[in-house]
Amino acid sequence: ALPPLIDRFNRRISYLRLSVTDRCDLRCSYCIPKGFKDFEEPSHWLTFDEIERVVRLFGQLGTGRVRLTGGEPLLRRNLPELAARLSKLPGITDLSLSTNATQLDRHAQALRAAGVQRLNISLDSLKRDCVATISGRDSLPAVLAGLDAAQAAGFAPIKLNMVVMQGVNDDEIDTMVRFCLERGFTLRLIEAMPMGDTGRNAHYLPLDRVRERLVGDFGLVPQALEMGGGPARYWQLPDGSGNIGFITPISQHFCATCNRVRLSVDGTLYLCLGQEEKLELRPMLRGGASDAELIAALRDAIELKPERHEFREQPGKIIRIMAHTGG
Ligand code: GTP
Ligand code: 5AD
Ligand code: SF4
Repeated sequence: ALPPLIDRFNRRISYLRLSVTDRCDLRCSYCIPKGFKDFEEPSHWLTFDEIERVVRLFGQLGTGRVRLTGGEPLLRRNLPELAARLSKLPGITDLSLSTNATQLDRHAQALRAAGVQRLNISLDSLKRDCVATISGRDSLPAVLAGLDAAQAAGFAPIKLNMVVMQGVNDDEIDTMVRFCLERGFTLRLIEAMPMGDTGRNAHYLPLDRVRERLVGDFGLVPQALEMGGGPARYWQLPDGSGNIGFITPISQHFCATCNRVRLSVDGTLYLCLGQEEKLELRPMLRGGASDAELIAALRDAIELKPERHEFREQPGKIIRIMAHTGG
C-alpha cells in the first residue's frame, strides 16, 4: 500500500466528500441564495470515469470513506450506477450519501443495492409551511415518503440533519427529538455556517445552551461510540435506545480532528470548507496526467490544507455557496 495522506497538522485524510452536482431542486435559505443562477457548466462536470479514477487513487492512499453530496446528489443522472462503481473499488470501505430526500422514494432501493450504506437526510422542520419557507418548495410530503423508503430499504444508520435557525425552527427542536427517537433516526442539530451570501440571513443559533437543556430534559450521556467519522459529537439516552448529534462549527469547532477533503463537481479539490486552498484536478484529468502525477499532485495539495476555518473571524470570506462544495 502507498503511504497515507497526512497533512502538516498530523491529520490523516480518511474521508472524501464527493459532490456529484451543484444543482438542487430546493433553495434552502442557508445554502443557496435567492435567485442564484451561476451553476457549473455541464461540460465541466467530471464524468463517472473521471470520478471513479480519482476515487480509486484516494482509495489507494487510504481515504476509505466516501460521501456523495451535492447540491442534491440524486439529481445526477444514474447516480446508483456511480455508487455501484465506487463501492466496488479496493480500499473504499464506507460509501454514504447526504440527500434532501425529495426523490429518495424512487431511488432508495437502487442505492442500497449499489452499496450505499449510510444516509444523512436534511430535514429542518416537521411543519409543512415552515419547510416550504426554508426550502422554497412544499417538499415535506416527498421527504417523509423518502424517509419511509429509506427505512424500508434497510439503510442504517439514517441521520436527520436539522440546521437550527433562531426564530425559524428552534421551537421545533423537541418535536424533532421525539420524532427521531420514535422512528429510530439519529437527529443531528447543526449550527448554520456563513457561506456565499447566506451569512447575513443564516439565523445562527449557538447550540451549547440547547445541548445543556436537552441533556437535562432527556438525561443524555456522552456517547463514546463513533458514528461515521464526521464532526458530530453524540449523546445518547441512558439506556442506549436513541442518540442525538451536535455539529457546532461556530461555537466549538472541530478542525483539529478534521479528516476530510472535498471534490466539487467541476473537479476542484477543496482542502477546507471554510477556506480557499484548492487543487484543480480537471485540467490534469483531461490533459493526460498519469496516475503517478495525480498522486503527487494530491500529496502536494494536502500540504496546503489549512489549520481551520475562520467562519467566526471572517464570516464574509467564503463566496462560493454551500451547494458548490457539498457541505
Ligand atoms: P458522517 O459523520 O459520516 O455521517 O457525515 P457528516 O455528518 O460529516 O456529513 P453531512 O453531509 O451529513 O454533514 C452534516 C453537517 O456537517 C453539514 O452541515 C456539513 O456542512 C457539516 N460538515 C461536515 N464536514 C464538515 C467539516 O469538515 N467542516 C465543517 N465546518 N462542517 C462540516
Ligand atoms: N450551514 C450548516 N449546514 C448547512 N447545510 C447546508 N448549508 C449549510 C450551512 N450554511 C447542511 C444541510 C445538509 C448538509 C449536507 O449540509 O442541512 O444536511
Ligand atoms: Fe439543496 Fe441541500 Fe442546499 Fe437545501 S441544503 S438547497 S437541499 S443542496
